[in-house]
Amino acid sequence: MSESPKSQRVAIVTGGASGIGLVLARALAADSYSVVIADTQNAEAAAKTLCDEGLRVVGVYADVTKVSDTENMVAHAVAAYGGLDVLVNNAGLFTSLTLKPFDQISPAEWMKVMEVNTLGPFLCARAALPALRSRGGGRIVNIASTSQLKGAPFMLHYTSSKGAVVAFTRSLARELGGEGITVNAIAPGFTLSDGVLAAGMEERMGEVVRRLSRSIQRDQMPADLVGALLFFAGDGSAFVTGQTLAVDGGSVFL
Ligand SMILES: NC(=O)c1ccc[n+]([C@@H]2O[C@H](COP(=O)([O-])OP(=O)(O)OC[C@H]3O[C@@H](n4cnc5c(N)ncnc54)[C@H](O)[C@@H]3O)[C@@H](O)[C@H]2O)c1
Repeated sequence: MSESPKSQRVAIVTGGASGIGLVLARALAADSYSVVIADTQNAEAAAKTLCDEGLRVVGVYADVTKVSDTENMVAHAVAAYGGLDVLVNNAGLFTSLTLKPFDQISPAEWMKVMEVNTLGPFLCARAALPALRSRGGGRIVNIASTSQLKGAPFMLHYTSSKGAVVAFTRSLARELGGEGITVNAIAPGFTLSDGVLAAGMEERMGEVVRRLSRSIQRDQMPADLVGALLFFAGDGSAFVTGQTLAVDGGSVFL
């Protein structure tokens, strides 16, 4: 991690234009990071909204499944703010998925989910590495899910992809630890993000998933993830890597 003051640190949040990603981008910017929102939809509009709140944010179109987009995303961060310290791999396919028995998932749908949720973090980490190295270290924070820790029916592609994110986190932590780059994952429980609300998923999930399975029996909001992100992005986690932190009101215990 760079020795620079936090006010000069730079973070990219993929899928940061809406939902959990937007809340995480706003929280990093409010904590004095300069932030790049990378998304396939509304990246610049979301960045403008945060700039109007007095925050340092730019937006860039980036599809995390495209090598050139991920490289351009990092170049954009370096051009706008002079470097990169934190990569948040948040972009993922979840709220657009239809729950279905596993034998009704087509191979094409399986591959699409794997492409965004597993190829995406790989390409983003690969693109970010030179910029993180040139700062002398950094942070990669991956958004996993508690669904893969518990096992969850009717979204086998999704839970399998998030299992891969945890494996990716552990193995990449081993590769990059010597360079001062930590790699950790946050596993949210079912969260009332913009996408979840727009898709009406909260109705379908029901009381047990939303509240009753948790020790703290209330709905989970995107803001509940902010504390974990700021910890993994900041100096206090310098000796913590390869970890997955479940943030779900005490439903899963690791
Ligand atoms: N909401 C939940 O209950 C929940 C629970 C656990 C984990 N998660 C994970 O949290 C992350 C965010 O979830 P959310 O609920 O905010 O989702 P969302 O659907 O509301 O937002 C996802 C964002 O990612 C962007 N995106 C999608 N594909 C992209 C691509 N190829 N390249 C760049 N951006 C892309 C979308 O445009 C959108 O802005 C996802 O990784 C999801 O799997 C969500």
